[in-house]
Amino acid sequence: MKATNIDEKNPLESLDVWEEDLLERFPDPDNIVQDKTKEEYRNYETPARETVKEFYRLNHLHQTYDFVLQKEKEFLRFDKKEMPIWDAFTFLNQLVDDSDPDTDLDQMQHLLQTSEAIRTDGHPDWMVLVGLLHDMGKVLCLFGEPQWAVVGDTFPVGCAFSDKIVFSEFFKDNPDYNDSRYNTRFGVYSPNCGLRNVHMSWGHDEYVYQMMKNHLPEPALYMLRYHSFYPQHRENAYDHLMDSHDHEMFEWVKLFNPYDLYSKTPTPPDWNKLRPYYENLVAKYLPPTLKF
Ligand SMILES: [Fe+2]
Ligand SMILES: [Fe+2]
Repeated sequence: MKATNIDEKNPLESLDVWEEDLLERFPDPDNIVQDKTKEEYRNYETPARETVKEFYRLNHLHQTYDFVLQKEKEFLRFDKKEMPIWDAFTFLNQLVDDSDPDTDLDQMQHLLQTSEAIRTDGHPDWMVLVGLLHDMGKVLCLFGEPQWAVVGDTFPVGCAFSDKIVFSEFFKDNPDYNDSRYNTRFGVYSPNCGLRNVHMSWGHDEYVYQMMKNHLPEPALYMLRYHSFYPQHRENAYDHLMDSHDHEMFEWVKLFNPYDLYSKTPTPPDWNKLRPYYENLVAKYLPPTLKF
């Protein structure tokens, strides 16, 4: 059943709604114990849940092997825009959710809260930088891409869709579902071929990974590239495509995930105080301008 008055192209009120839904599916274990009951996280009949469902219907319908190859060709040329990273954050912040200005933080604040939580725990500085950069790929929305091609849990294309993927029932309308090249367990891949040989559904993870791949150490790149790959880092649904190196590197992906999901606090970080530290950090690893 399709809900009425939901935007047909971009059903989510903002990209944050996807992340709020992730919190419902993967609640913070500490919060459950402290002050929240499970019911608070599991209200599936809310209007927000309907938009999330519609968002995943579109995502699962349109993310085909051919679609991914086409988007890789279109965006991995990085010929759309060039700007210093600080301008890129300002650009990203145009993705403001105006539905609830009192409680919602802008994109930059989510990035800073993630990176500050990583820094507080004493992790390497390149991991702090991952926190700062990991959602930079959401600028794809500002290039006119629909939400379902920017955010959402990611998964391999070119082989059978796992039933562990959220709303996997929607894959039956994906053209690849009935295509014998793509609908077997391994599809176009071979057993344990390694994720570097696997095309993931298109979105902000792959895009930011490709943008950063020459600048950061390998664990950082895994965190960027697979941070939305919930079907693997939470559900282990694609062990059959991973090699032993992937498994080693996924320890880093799993280490990063709670900082992404659970670092939100209502207090915005004090950017003026933090600025010198981050300017140094960015200058240490990244060129003066980034290509989008
Ligand atoms: Fe993300
Ligand atoms: Fe994030």
